[in-house]
Amino acid sequence: MNRRDFIQKAAMAGPAMGIVPTLYSGEERVADKVRLGFIGVGLRGRSHLEQALFRQDVEVNAICDIDPAAINASLDKIKKAGRKAPAVYGKGDEDFLNLVKRDDLDGILIATPWQWHVPMTLAAMRAGKYAAVEVSATVTLQESWDLVDTFEKTGSHCMILENVCYRRDVMAILRMVREGMFGEMTYAHCGYQHDLRAIKLNNGKSDGGVGVEFGEKGYSEAKWRTQHSVDRNGDIYPTHGLGPVAHWLDINRGNAFSYLTSTSTKSRGLHKYIVDHGSKDHPNAKVNFKLGDIVTTVIQCHNGENIVLIHDTNSPRPYSLAFRAQGTNGIWMNDGDSIYIEGVSPKEHTAEPDKAYLQKYDHPLWKKQAKEAESAGHGGIDYFVLRGFIESIKRKTAPPIDVYDAATWSAISPLSEQSIAKGSAPIEIPDFTRGKWKTNKRIFGRNDEY
Ligand SMILES: NC(=O)c1ccc[n+]([C@@H]2O[C@H](COP(=O)([O-])OP(=O)(O)OC[C@H]3O[C@@H](n4cnc5c(N)ncnc54)[C@H](O)[C@@H]3O)[C@@H](O)[C@H]2O)c1
Repeated sequence: MNRRDFIQKAAMAGPAMGIVPTLYSGEERVADKVRLGFIGVGLRGRSHLEQALFRQDVEVNAICDIDPAAINASLDKIKKAGRKAPAVYGKGDEDFLNLVKRDDLDGILIATPWQWHVPMTLAAMRAGKYAAVEVSATVTLQESWDLVDTFEKTGSHCMILENVCYRRDVMAILRMVREGMFGEMTYAHCGYQHDLRAIKLNNGKSDGGVGVEFGEKGYSEAKWRTQHSVDRNGDIYPTHGLGPVAHWLDINRGNAFSYLTSTSTKSRGLHKYIVDHGSKDHPNAKVNFKLGDIVTTVIQCHNGENIVLIHDTNSPRPYSLAFRAQGTNGIWMNDGDSIYIEGVSPKEHTAEPDKAYLQKYDHPLWKKQAKEAESAGHGGIDYFVLRGFIESIKRKTAPPIDVYDAATWSAISPLSEQSIAKGSAPIEIPDFTRGKWKTNKRIFGRNDEY
């Protein structure tokens, strides 16, 4: 049975067969349908759209994008899924303001260039809608405060769509951390180590997109993302690594980030790529990229743990988010898929494969939903992150990853820029919860619900 058949059959069978218990369990009466609008239906937005169209509990009532090709590709997907045509907003940069006003939307999903995230999220929240925003949520510190202030004023929720939080291994480690397998946590290592040179310089040609263009001549993220590598030196994409680690360490829920220092290498990778794949005379060979090839940030946490966070997107290297979880009893090391737990692992000072542990501590959310998730993108994590948003709307409750997480994790970017600009000086990390981290309870990964 494919994924769509499964959902359709499950929906038709209803709770009597016990196939869709998550919709009906819990004390609160939950809504059956969630009505979504999409702002930004580029590569990422369309991938969320596809996920949404798989679900019988979602209606897509409106889409917005300034690029007619993105709108047409989305309309095509919606039609092929046999759904009714949504309202379309494509009349310029501010047409999203008209979308958010609609009264047939419960939630709005935003997958636009970073500088648009906060204006769009605030508009959605002010219009009384649930907002889901892609990563990173904010670019500046003020934007992080704007998210929090607007939530506190309007009561409208905002979820950051940090899909890596739902990785199966990362959630098994979360369970191990919470069950005390690592002892007391002391340290975590993470990062975004992804060779983006071809993406940052993608000209969108049919030769696979290998090019040396960005800005107006660029394709997809090369249109806007690359400019951040020209203008900024810091960890400009921190949340794929930090999100999971923040959950391991209960950040904003019993623990907090205190301060950070960041250090960057010289900038070489993008320039070299342009010379190697274009020529030394190409106009982009004259561009001065501010972003160091590797940026290393060390975060001190209130409860005494340290986090090392790496941003590494301009070098030839294999993909890795570089996770490590270290406690007083042992360590998980994602690179090498290995683990060592003192007194449990068979040989002293020697790691063993992590596979059996990841299976044994498989998170209940995954255990229950694995079939559904399997056919979704990014190894199932995109299924879960969208589902988290939808289930919180149905229950009219806070999303599993909330506005304080969005503000706090994303703020690491401007703070790391400040640190580097001041010669790796320590920079205090604001407490976006205004002290509530001391009493806040866990939301993410509590059970098998969402
Ligand atoms: N979580 C993940 O795994 C993941 C993966 C890829 C991208 N992303 C994030 O998703 C977001 C989008 O990335 P992408 O790869 O889809 O980029 P993209 O360039 O392919 O898509 C962005 C879309 O936004 C549209 N847009 C720009 N300004 C607009 C405006 N004012 N109004 C309406 N639409 C507007 C563009 O026309 C484009 O179609 C980024 O924040 C990125 O970091 C996350």
